[in-house]
Amino acid sequence: MMKPDVVHPVGVIGGTGLTSLSGLEITRQWEASTSWGEPSSMLSEGVISGQPVLFLARHGDPHRIPPHRVNYRANLQALYDAGVRTVVGVNAVGGIHPEMGPARVVIPDQLIDYTWGRASTFFEDDLEHTTHIDFTYPYSEPARQILLDAAKRISQPVSGFGVYAATQGPRLETAAEIARLERDGCDLVGMTGMPEAVLAAELGMNYVCLALVVNWAAGKTEQVITMADIEAAIDQGMAGVRTVLEASIEP
Ligand code: HPA
Repeated sequence: MMKPDVVHPVGVIGGTGLTSLSGLEITRQWEASTSWGEPSSMLSEGVISGQPVLFLARHGDPHRIPPHRVNYRANLQALYDAGVRTVVGVNAVGGIHPEMGPARVVIPDQLIDYTWGRASTFFEDDLEHTTHIDFTYPYSEPARQILLDAAKRISQPVSGFGVYAATQGPRLETAAEIARLERDGCDLVGMTGMPEAVLAAELGMNYVCLALVVNWAAGKTEQVITMADIEAAIDQGMAGVRTVLEASIEP
């Protein structure tokens, strides 16, 4: 079979606890600019197991942009302009489903958007006609399968299902809000999954979420949620995220 001339790099958007990719041998870094503004961080281009990868830190490097202030349009557009057609969004989340406790890696299959006031479409001004993209399945099933197969190969336990609730933040939720999300059918909760997923879809890119649970969601335990506990779960679980990511990129 003929090989395609263009090898599209895989884009990785790192969230809380993942401001760089240890396995990435960086060959080039640059400040991208788009008609939507500047992305959160420089783009870092490199290779993992011979496969080109582009990395972007969602909250900036160092981590300074809160979830509701991230320029999601610039981030996705910059990756698209650099040739990316498949994006892995790494997200720290709170766990609602009993299987999804701290340090659990989750590859969700659905989402519900509770965010508001964010720039969440590229189709806004100067339109010739309105565009309603299909968003029935927000995550790319082939990309999900690649991550799940990689996890299996390296014996990394993961949950391969789940409804991601995207909340506005930056505060965490009340216990009643989490109870409502649970009644809505949500299994995990984070602040950055939207509009990232839909903007990728508008650009025709494959998007998949690789989530790390960093705390039980509010009211799921007796304790209040502390940053120290979140950091401990990141320390414990981010290695799993990195290994799944690296194993999935192997050609
Ligand atoms: N809620 C929302 N976002 C989060 C949480 C949470 O409990 N933990 C990490 N990101």
